[in-house]
Amino acid sequence: MKITFYGHASLGIEVNDVHILVDPFISGNDKASNIDIDSLKADYILVTHAHQDHILDVEAIAKRTNAMIVSNFEIATYFEQKGFETHPMNHGGSWDFEFGNVKYVNAIHTSSFPDGSYGGQPGGFVIEGERKNIYIAGDTALTFDMKLIPLQTQLDLAILPIGDNFTMGIDDAILASDFVQCDKVLGYHFDTFGYIEIDHEEAKRKFFDKNKDLMILEIGESIEL
Ligand code: NI
Ligand code: MN
Repeated sequence: MKITFYGHASLGIEVNDVHILVDPFISGNDKASNIDIDSLKADYILVTHAHQDHILDVEAIAKRTNAMIVSNFEIATYFEQKGFETHPMNHGGSWDFEFGNVKYVNAIHTSSFPDGSYGGQPGGFVIEGERKNIYIAGDTALTFDMKLIPLQTQLDLAILPIGDNFTMGIDDAILASDFVQCDKVLGYHFDTFGYIEIDHEEAKRKFFDKNKDLMILEIGESIEL
């Protein structure tokens, strides 16, 4: 499984030859000007919630690639009505896709569309694919619901927001890593806006002091699990 950071909360995941994008917000992110959305491959686009900093490039990419949009029922319906191929899910449900199993899990956040219309309740994803399991938390507060995940899935990587203000910050992300029983963390949702700028070295040191590994990738950088 290959994971690429496209800035903010945008991720690319490759499982075998299947390309999955998560929460594409690239063309609106000055820091991600090195990424060309017209060159991104996508068979699936996973959307955690309806906020603009998670859906901005969904339509442009789905139009070009015919990717299937996977999200909660309200978000899937919103895109289905615009003519896109979608797969609706809801909290606690899982589905076997060609690349592996996806479960839509709880997040504590909000989920209105940029025009104010209802985007359902926000979520995260647990993906089991190619013998590697990852948790993409989405925008969320620290929540005890995270403790449910390791009861069923032994994670290889937890992708957690670390920018604070709109989501968990570093200290809560360290507790989240305890809750999901995964000491290997990829941080996201930081630095994009003034509210969520963080000190990278301090963040890494705090994880290191708890015997945990916080990875912070450059935009466009990938890791292999
Ligand atoms: Ni949000
Ligand atoms: Mn966000």
